Amino acid sequence: MIIAVDGPAASGKGTIAKALARHYGLPHLDTGLLYRAVGIAVLRSGGDPSDEGDAFRACDFDSALLSDPGLKSEAAGRAASIVSAHPSVRAALLELQRDFVRQPGGAVLDGRDIGTVIAPEAPAKLFVTASSEVRAQRRFDELKGMGLNVVYDHVLSDIRARDARDSGRGIAPLKQADDAVLLDTSTLDVAAATARAIEIVEQTKVGSEA
Ligand code: C5P
Repeated sequence: MIIAVDGPAASGKGTIAKALARHYGLPHLDTGLLYRAVGIAVLRSGGDPSDEGDAFRACDFDSALLSDPGLKSEAAGRAASIVSAHPSVRAALLELQRDFVRQPGGAVLDGRDIGTVIAPEAPAKLFVTASSEVRAQRRFDELKGMGLNVVYDHVLSDIRARDARDSGRGIAPLKQADDAVLLDTSTLDVAAATARAIEIVEQTKVGSEA
């Protein structure tokens, strides 16, 4: 079974995708890491993420970069959101993601365009969201927990800027697929959000078998 999980930054989609992968015994790909790796590779080479040539050259990154702790930084997230708007970058990362989808038995992928572009054939699609204030608070708590000195208002404006870039870009913008089920996690804890996600997948399975 292929499960597509999309949504904006800090919506809880990664946690939900991992939990679904564990529940159904499926491999999981966090596709945001690919764009973060490109973003970090550009920054480390002294390039400019908004320059399409610099960003495209960085798509050739060493796979060891995918486990670099620097990928989780706000700088990597910002750079990822800039490089991901270049059509040549998205094209360079497409096959790798499609190969992951085509594994026997299926897979769970999370990102921004899984249900719309990478795996439109997925029988189970979730669009995970939460208010920007709740998402900023989650990201703020996470960064504080890492010992970083952060200001809530900066985190909130960063989240809003990222939403605007991801939803407003011309190619593969962040948007709910017509056949995706909306899961708003604003008032749900991890256990409740996971339980609801499993319920949605189970209902999709019943629907597709009927
Ligand atoms: O999910 P995460 O916050 O790690 O993604 C970082 C950035 O990568 C996003 O803001 C988005 O611009 C980009 N991205 C994308 N398509 C995906 C996954 C991530 O454009 N499938």
